Amino acid sequence: MTPKTVAVAGATGLVGSQMLKTLEERQFPIKSLKPLASERSRGKTVTFKGEVVPVEVLSENSFKGVDIALFSAGGGTSKKFAPCAAKDGCVVVDNSSAWRMDPEVPLVVPEVNAHDITKHKGIIANPNCSTIQMVVVLKPLHDAAIITRVVVSTYQAVSGAGVKALDELDNQTRAILEGKEPQCAEFPHPIAFNCIPQIPGSDAFTDNGYTSEEMKMVNETMKIMGDNSIRVTATTVRVPVHSGHSESVNVETKTKLSADQARELLSKAPGVVVLDDPAKQIYPLALDCVGKDATFVGRIREDISHPSALDMWIVADNLLKGAALNAVQIAELL
Ligand code: A2P
Repeated sequence: MTPKTVAVAGATGLVGSQMLKTLEERQFPIKSLKPLASERSRGKTVTFKGEVVPVEVLSENSFKGVDIALFSAGGGTSKKFAPCAAKDGCVVVDNSSAWRMDPEVPLVVPEVNAHDITKHKGIIANPNCSTIQMVVVLKPLHDAAIITRVVVSTYQAVSGAGVKALDELDNQTRAILEGKEPQCAEFPHPIAFNCIPQIPGSDAFTDNGYTSEEMKMVNETMKIMGDNSIRVTATTVRVPVHSGHSESVNVETKTKLSADQARELLSKAPGVVVLDDPAKQIYPLALDCVGKDATFVGRIREDISHPSALDMWIVADNLLKGAALNAVQIAELL
């Protein structure tokens, strides 16, 4: 690949800085790097491949001469600036939800639907973090036995809500241990020592009683898998974990798959690692999966309440496979 000029919009954020790290670690061929952020970051720098690079303020003119732009600066920023970038001939890989369900925009998880990338018209969407790790595991099961329905509950880490949310978890934990009142700003309730069945914080609920995060899992799964007949129901929950999303997933299939068959299929699936030895208390744990590229699956068992369904536990690093790594993999495909 010829070296590219790459911009990272939101380079000072949690996902943006992970994008820089991942580009560096995977030795993405970069001619020149352009870190972009808001006015607040004027004068800041980032370090890339040992060099100090100044952060530029994102504007409509930021993308002239840029080949690929990785966006992780919020939905509003993507809505406004991704079309400007595409107009200037740059290909945008957007981590926000702004473009995901646009029929003109491919929604890509390389292990699942790399072929969809060819349909892009300047913008490619990176799916929701919880959706990415689930579909990587669903794909080989769907190919083998046709998935008809998925019931998922998520246990989502706080880092998915950004830097300020992580500070809030730490500050609340300290406050509660010191017998003080925890202060809430990023979340509607204390997240320390708690589980909140609402993601995101504001304008979370849709008319059907599901949260927007839950509906993302429903709609994005069908789009990525290229099959609108897969029924999905989701309950998405924020838990007091720094990083690493966990999911309890029940998968109904048209033809029965035994737990052994599923383990066999998943052990050969790209990007998936099976960690499943209950006798030795081996199963995926958020703490162990952080910093790793793979999606981990364990606790695979046949659902005793259904003739052809499986239960499983899926864990991945939400900032890596759930965001930065998947975006860089898309850029590599480009
Ligand atoms: P900044 O640091 O200048 O606010 P996180 O989700 O971890 O909080 O990070 C959000 C990222 O998106 C940050 O890099 C932030 O930059 C960037 N960002 C947020 N709003 C804008 C905006 N309007 N224009 C450009 N960058 C933005």
